[in-house]
Amino acid sequence: TEAKATNIVWHDGSFTRKEREDILGRKGFTLWFTGLSASGKSTLATALEQHLVAHGVSAYRLDGDNIRFGLNKNLGFSDQDRTENIRRISEVAKLFADSTTIAITSFISPFKADRAVARELHNAAGIPFIEVFADVPIEVAEQRDPKGLYKKAREGVIKDFTGISSPYEAPEAPELHIRTDLMSVEEGVRNIVAYLEKRELLT
Ligand code: PPS
Repeated sequence: TEAKATNIVWHDGSFTRKEREDILGRKGFTLWFTGLSASGKSTLATALEQHLVAHGVSAYRLDGDNIRFGLNKNLGFSDQDRTENIRRISEVAKLFADSTTIAITSFISPFKADRAVARELHNAAGIPFIEVFADVPIEVAEQRDPKGLYKKAREGVIKDFTGISSPYEAPEAPELHIRTDLMSVEEGVRNIVAYLEKRELLT
């Protein structure tokens, strides 16, 4: 959609992204985790961030609950608010990636169309967008229930809960598909890092 403001002019930076990447010696991109609540996406995203930063790679995690305390504190869990949540996150991730930091986003992002918008935003800017599906059967997520939210959703205390009373549209062709119930966190991180190395994104 168009910007609401008028009389605004886009300013191009003094460096192209390529120049910035060459000078700083690193590449920016977005790793987009998606999955049910309790699918392990935040655990995996956190471990990956830790691994990368410990190896001197500039990576920064944007995480569901935390962003909802700040940037997106005015948003709830209606379909419309989730779409706006993901739209803002996509823009922020793109900025981080453009600055040559790896953006690791960890949001349920339940709607295919919203993830497609995030991908297109990156594609249009020539920034790699890597979708990582943190996959578990819903029974496993419900069994884990670390915050007791599935229980509350079943009792009707929480409404519009993903997987119970609000849809989760699984990705059909994610770049990476991780069954977090069949693999350790370390194994998951190794798989992701191997993929990034193969694509020569970790310079
Ligand atoms: S979304 O759908 O992408 O906008 O959601 P996200 O910003 O990732 O927020 C998900 C976390 O919010 C908590 N929570 C809920 N999730 C789903 N549905 C409802 N109704 C809901 N209410 C609160 C929940 O703890 C999610 O955290 P994770 O880490 O995914 O378990």
